[in-house]
Amino acid sequence: MEWTPGARELADLELLLSGAFQPLTGFLGHDDLHAVHERGTLADGTPWPAPVTLRLPPEAAPGDEVTLLDPEGAPLAVVTVTERGPEGLASGPVRALGAPEHGPFARLHRTPAQVRELLDGRPALVVTMRAPLDDLTEITATAKELDAVTVLLPLSYGEAGPAVVRAALRARDQLPESTLVVPVPLAQREEPEIDLELREHVATAYGATEHLAGPEPVSIPGPPHRRGLVVFFTGLSGSGKSTIARGLRDALLELGSRTVTYLDGDVVRSLLSKGLTFSKGDRDLNIRRIGFVASEAARHGGLAICAPIAPYAATRAEVREMVESVGADFLLVHVSTPLEECERRDRKGLYAKARAGLIPEFTGVSDPYEEPDDADLVIDTTRISIEAAVSQVLAGLRDGGWVR
Ligand code: ADX
Repeated sequence: MEWTPGARELADLELLLSGAFQPLTGFLGHDDLHAVHERGTLADGTPWPAPVTLRLPPEAAPGDEVTLLDPEGAPLAVVTVTERGPEGLASGPVRALGAPEHGPFARLHRTPAQVRELLDGRPALVVTMRAPLDDLTEITATAKELDAVTVLLPLSYGEAGPAVVRAALRARDQLPESTLVVPVPLAQREEPEIDLELREHVATAYGATEHLAGPEPVSIPGPPHRRGLVVFFTGLSGSGKSTIARGLRDALLELGSRTVTYLDGDVVRSLLSKGLTFSKGDRDLNIRRIGFVASEAARHGGLAICAPIAPYAATRAEVREMVESVGADFLLVHVSTPLEECERRDRKGLYAKARAGLIPEFTGVSDPYEEPDDADLVIDTTRISIEAAVSQVLAGLRDGGWVR
């Protein structure tokens, strides 16, 4: 079978295949993970600081060979499953399929063996970087003292990856000509000590006589009025969410300080999600598509307004995560107008049809709506006007600094 792992897993895969994670040759199973957790070694006692795990779908059984694809569908490697664990975990050795590398700065990638060959026995000062080097004096002095070649390893994982590589290339301009820059897609581990130990291991694989850890990244998010924002309305059909969303869009366009992408449920279903039904699977897909487009807009600092029913809490949470993972903010607005009121209004006559059994799986009537418990704003339009509701949302945006 074939499977596309997540971004973190793909980054770990690249390091397993390049030898940067030596002595590891595959994803870890239960005994190794237990030992890593308890003692910071593999089950056989070899020092190893961090879990390196893969999740596979339940069909992949021990003994199966699973081809791992990149997000574009190009085969990267084969994992031979040795063991299935809890929560989808799967262990097993990996074998490269020799797919061409791509992505920003792919041409700079080198395996540890290639770098060691370039070093040709000379001592090496390996510097792992997650942020720009603000001071090169320690590096210069240490390299001189050891008579070492300096190897800068920008840990180029995720959104900030290319920026760290650029910082390393800038630093190289001020260092001796022999200095090497090799991007390594090492995803940051949550615990700082474990992250540091893993960096030591990778540095050693790249031939380090000595390892220096560069400064920690300080994430200074831009001011909110420059950051991407997704305002996500959720609520029953007829609750007023589309009307408030439209009012918000118009108000923002009148202010003119932000670019607006508008993704109303019915509008989305006329093109982006045309043909999807109202089954749980299709509703989830619809919300994921909306979340994808909204996060692309927000990635570039845009403001996206979404207004689907989005009845499932887990799917809304997925969208929140998608948006936050591109460095943008997510605001959930629950338009909580109760079912009785939506049904009393019944602007499109859909509730009457649903009650008559003419529309199956109708939200609130014959299909679930999971009330959010993580809404940033709750608006019931039973007793307030649309203008008042729009003002409330706009006030929320002003309070948060997203709109000035
Ligand atoms: S969602 O569940 O996938 O988020 P979405 O917001 O796109 O729903 O579409 C909801 C709109 O589709 C409603 O406002 C209504 O006009 C129409 N609709 C048609 N069939 C249904 C149904 N079975 N349940 C809910 N809405 C429906």
